[in-house]
Amino acid sequence: MTSAKKIMVSGIQPTNKLTLGNYLGALKNWVRLQNEYECYFFAVDLHAITSRQEPKELADNTLFALATYLAAGINLDHATIFAQSHVRQHAELAWVLNCFSYMGELGRMTQFKDKSSRAGETIPVGLFTYPVLMAADILLYQTDLVPVGADQKQHLELTRDVAIRMNNIYGPLFKVPEPYIPKVGARIMDLQDPESKMSKSVSSELGAVFLSDPPKEIEKKFKRAVTDSGAEVTYAPEKPGIRNLLDIQSAITGRSIDDLVKSYSGKMYGHLKVETATIVSDELRPLQERTQQYLADKGELQRILREGAARAATKAEATLKAVYGAIGFAPY
Ligand code: TRP
Repeated sequence: MTSAKKIMVSGIQPTNKLTLGNYLGALKNWVRLQNEYECYFFAVDLHAITSRQEPKELADNTLFALATYLAAGINLDHATIFAQSHVRQHAELAWVLNCFSYMGELGRMTQFKDKSSRAGETIPVGLFTYPVLMAADILLYQTDLVPVGADQKQHLELTRDVAIRMNNIYGPLFKVPEPYIPKVGARIMDLQDPESKMSKSVSSELGAVFLSDPPKEIEKKFKRAVTDSGAEVTYAPEKPGIRNLLDIQSAITGRSIDDLVKSYSGKMYGHLKVETATIVSDELRPLQERTQQYLADKGELQRILREGAARAATKAEATLKAVYGAIGFAPY
């Protein structure tokens, strides 16, 4: 790993098992981009506890996520992978950034507004400061590029604002990062509610395809996918459900949407659903096998993660130390 390379950082929340949306929207892009960058990819377990987690499941899901990174083809020659909670500097820098972020700007975050409106009476403070922790994740590594879904763009802008704010006060502490929002596969939508992103936390169980789903389950979910009342397969604004199925196929096969639409002329929605299910199952089968292989050797997985955390901490500590010094903490 040469330090001449630009730095890329990204993370996925290990709430539940990862979804097809995480795979097509994030992981596949990481794999595609990794050779050109020095990469840090983590499972954001500190972010995950902004909603209540079953302890055993959180640990399992964190290992599942990281095993999936490896199974998807993340290469340890280019990338350091780890659990966010294993690198203490994330939480430490987040505290400092909390003191340089404003209530007003955090209150404007649409994800906070969405999530807090669903949280009921008691809204954890962590949900409010979630983007500040994300900023710490990114700024610790002097990051150039952050591949994220379109829904995270606002958080990236906040990250840039806070970095610029602190650089203006203290001199250059942080690289100001750029978002990378991929076009294809950027937004895989919920199968039951194709106006919302496919997510582990929302909608019914049928809305999200989990990377651990067996082919039968995948078929069931696609067969029941919500479409609209028409009959013709077209890529139209008023057909979000059909568009989503076409996007999924295109993200997996690399075929253009035009080409796909042509191939469905004269066919019914049912064909599209069943064929999408088959394409997804075929794509996930080898990924699932490899993930299970990594999970079967817990000792080796732990070793990879410990090594990853140690490498990440070394890099992160350089930034944290500079920040502590600049703001006037006594030297240690
Ligand atoms: N908030 C991101 C999401 O929900 C996950 C995340 C946390 C992240 N920290 C990050 C993504 C740092 C990129 C970089 O998708």
